[in-house]
Amino acid sequence: MTQTIRTVPTEPIEGQKPGTSGLRKKTPVFQQHHYLENFIQSIWTGIGGVEGKTLVLGGDGRHFNSQAAQVVLRMAAASGAKKVIVGKGALLSTPAASNLIRTRGADGGIVLSASHNPGGPEGDFGVKFNTANGGPAPESVTSKIFEATKTITEYHILESHDVGLRTEGSFTLAGMEVEVVDPVTDYAEMMAGIFDFDAIRALFKSGFRMRFDAMHAVTGPYASAILEGTLGAAPGTVINAIPLPDFGQGHPDPNPIWAKPLMDEMMGPNAPDFGAASDGDGDRNMIVGKGCYVTPSDSLAVLAANATLVPAYSDGLKGVARSMPTSRAVDRVADALDIDCYETPTGWKFFGNLLDVGRVTLCGEESAGTGSDHVREKDGLWAVLFWLNILAEKRQSVAELMAAHWREYGRNYYSRHDYEDVDSAAANELMDNLRGELPVLAGHSYGALKVRDADEFAYDDPVDGSRAEGQGLRIWFEGGDRAVLRLSGTGTSGATLRVYLEALETDPDKMDRDPQEALAPVISAVDEIAGIRKRTGRDAPDVIT
Ligand code: G6P
Ligand code: ZN
Repeated sequence: MTQTIRTVPTEPIEGQKPGTSGLRKKTPVFQQHHYLENFIQSIWTGIGGVEGKTLVLGGDGRHFNSQAAQVVLRMAAASGAKKVIVGKGALLSTPAASNLIRTRGADGGIVLSASHNPGGPEGDFGVKFNTANGGPAPESVTSKIFEATKTITEYHILESHDVGLRTEGSFTLAGMEVEVVDPVTDYAEMMAGIFDFDAIRALFKSGFRMRFDAMHAVTGPYASAILEGTLGAAPGTVINAIPLPDFGQGHPDPNPIWAKPLMDEMMGPNAPDFGAASDGDGDRNMIVGKGCYVTPSDSLAVLAANATLVPAYSDGLKGVARSMPTSRAVDRVADALDIDCYETPTGWKFFGNLLDVGRVTLCGEESAGTGSDHVREKDGLWAVLFWLNILAEKRQSVAELMAAHWREYGRNYYSRHDYEDVDSAAANELMDNLRGELPVLAGHSYGALKVRDADEFAYDDPVDGSRAEGQGLRIWFEGGDRAVLRLSGTGTSGATLRVYLEALETDPDKMDRDPQEALAPVISAVDEIAGIRKRTGRDAPDVIT
């Protein structure tokens, strides 16, 4: 087979700016002439070249995954990469990729995914670059990549047939080694080293029933192998287990809206003991007990409070971190444990430094992400196994466990209201207007609530001293309630306004309220302050989580 390296003249393509989590666009955008190639070449430029480097490569199996993987391999080979470790079938979950980068000492990795966004020919596609620590590239790297997209004049690509990625093994591609690995093996081994698999096995043996909805995304093979294969969960525990290019026309986002069939089952008469789901690329999770949904913020707090039940964390936690809009439930646990609790901007990349230097062990976000220092990404299945390990030790139902948790620490009622595909100009105007009013809000009352303070969140990284500004508008009310507004950094059309609502309750008799009702005063206050309904033209949020 002749293998010629072609140098292809190209021009910068506008809008290739990596967002919260890589570059994410409609699939047809990525399929445009030169689009993917320009971005991949810009990654090589942004990281100072790929020559002699080892990369990890895989994706969540969505439409265009396989073709894109072939392009990345040909472009890595053309620019002199030493080796690419690729998941069989070009599949790798995001946490599994993070693990491989770390354990194989790779220089970085490329994950082909638009995470929880729908896939398919009209869906979304994405490319994320992770650095040698296994985590999402920090701003310092993504800004170099973006700069490169604006000045690119040519890219290099090997002319070759598609290489076979269906079987494990190694081969060379124009001098570059390609190692095809099973996407599950290393990850499953790592999980066995973290959790008490014997205890979880005993739990399942005792008749404990579980449902895991893989949403036709990448965690299917991982969950089937670990839950059913290794831990003895009943066959059929994992549903929608086969990854499909369009996720079976679904929206692979594990929340009560998009994982509604699972929610219905868990709230129904014949509910299993425990339910869980993960997203497109396997880094998000949803936890739900029989008749009891657990918010991601509460989940993080529960994991922190019970971490010593898990072998890998039996010595206790070094500290915890949460993104700013995440509820402060974990802060209350950190207080009780007398460990540090860090507040970072939205985006997993902000946890990287804290994890790298050992300041924190656990971290999490309201956006269904939880993780620890075992990798540098959030990890959906890990969170599910963490819960199983706790339940195996406690032998309580999820509802009992939550009730006990709230009794001990208080309950941070929490909800997020999303207004999707809002006209970008209107959304920006809303934010600009509120930003302008922040300094004068304190002291004003809205219904029953009085504003105590308001500001725009900025973060000074305590490890590298970098500063991230403009990370969300915060309004605190007297008594501890809080509202946060920010625009999503992961959408692909229009703007998504996120309104995060939180109300602290410490009265033991008021732990069982409907969150929307408990939050009603904050909801109406923030609408009055920011003019949400008026400015978006919407009567109600599109998604409530
Ligand atoms: C991705 C990142 C998360 C982040 C989320 C926020 O999933 O990996 O770390 O929390 O995006 O998305 P948003 O749409 O709110 O910017
Ligand atoms: Zn994801």
